[in-house]
Amino acid sequence: MSEKKHILDYDTVALDDEGRALVIIDQTQLPYHTEILHLTGQDQIWEAIYKLQVRGAPAIGVAAGYGVYLAAREIQEKTDDYQVFKEEFIKAKDYLNSARPTAVNLPWALNRMEKVVLDHPDCSVEEICKLLHDEAVAIQEEDIWTCKMIGEYGLTLVKPGDGLLTHCNAGQLATSRYGTATAPMYLGFERGYNFRIFADETRPLLQGARLTSYELHDSGLDVTLICDNMSASVMKKGWVNAVFVGCDRVAANGDTANKIGTSVVAAVAKLYNVPVYICAPTSTIDMDTPTGDEIVIEQRPAEEVTEMWYAKRMAPEGVKVYNPAFDVTDNELIAGIITEYGIARAPYTESLKEIMEKKAAAQASKAK
Ligand code: MRU
Repeated sequence: MSEKKHILDYDTVALDDEGRALVIIDQTQLPYHTEILHLTGQDQIWEAIYKLQVRGAPAIGVAAGYGVYLAAREIQEKTDDYQVFKEEFIKAKDYLNSARPTAVNLPWALNRMEKVVLDHPDCSVEEICKLLHDEAVAIQEEDIWTCKMIGEYGLTLVKPGDGLLTHCNAGQLATSRYGTATAPMYLGFERGYNFRIFADETRPLLQGARLTSYELHDSGLDVTLICDNMSASVMKKGWVNAVFVGCDRVAANGDTANKIGTSVVAAVAKLYNVPVYICAPTSTIDMDTPTGDEIVIEQRPAEEVTEMWYAKRMAPEGVKVYNPAFDVTDNELIAGIITEYGIARAPYTESLKEIMEKKAAAQASKAK
């Protein structure tokens, strides 16, 4: 009899063996149904990102990389003219980029893919498609390495037996492996750290309840699910030694957009002297956005608040609803920003710049 597959045995995002479809777990169905979707059309891929069937900043970036590669192959079937190919490619890129506005990983990955096209005007369209394939694979492989490094750095900030709190899902389901905020948790688990983890349920889309508590519990970690309004209570009791959260866009001054409610957790953590660490791949750091004020916050449909997940609607018909998907945590509430190149500390305007310089130097020496 074959053993039951664990949720983390599935790839969050992949390209199928023939290189013809984007393969994702439909995260809107979790934890009850593990439905694997094979997406081929650009509309399907756009919708999967918009509907959060694939979600979490790094996973969105990886999906967009493969998605625009699939678009390139479709275009290649129609033309071998570089100019025509380039114009159609840019249209496909802009279309996928419009699926969600806040996670910078989406334009970051798409711009990387576009650069491959722009840098090779003398190659055949077929050769460019091969290079696009390799770039999309590289984006995914780097994501795995990045999360592992964030886990290693994160682990230096805590000790065995600590209580850790997280918000939303910055887990493996939001990345290619390990997660960002969960990377120190998974690595600590492997090394016998016995963390006690608190997962906020994360209204309104319940990523904490449906995804974080699921993937941690299914992997054998000690996780306790709490409602979003319970974080003060567990912090006041002294049960939380550190908060690890992910991010969708970190501005140059360290202000950080993450799932709605993160800034509430950070404000409460400040009150109880609990350090808040942002787990941030450098792909999520946007040095072109000076402060959190310039980050575009996605607004989502009212139904997510009034009726989604409920057996029947729980709000009066016609009531006004405000449903921003993200909020910005001010940099002064953040104890550190953990990247794959080290931990940035305040003042972030300087430390993030140093991290990005370190990355550029590492990439330059790799390219030699
Ligand atoms: O709306 P979502 O589910 O895509 O929001 C996800 C988050 O806010 C995550 O914390 C963030 O993308 C980091 S994932 C490593």
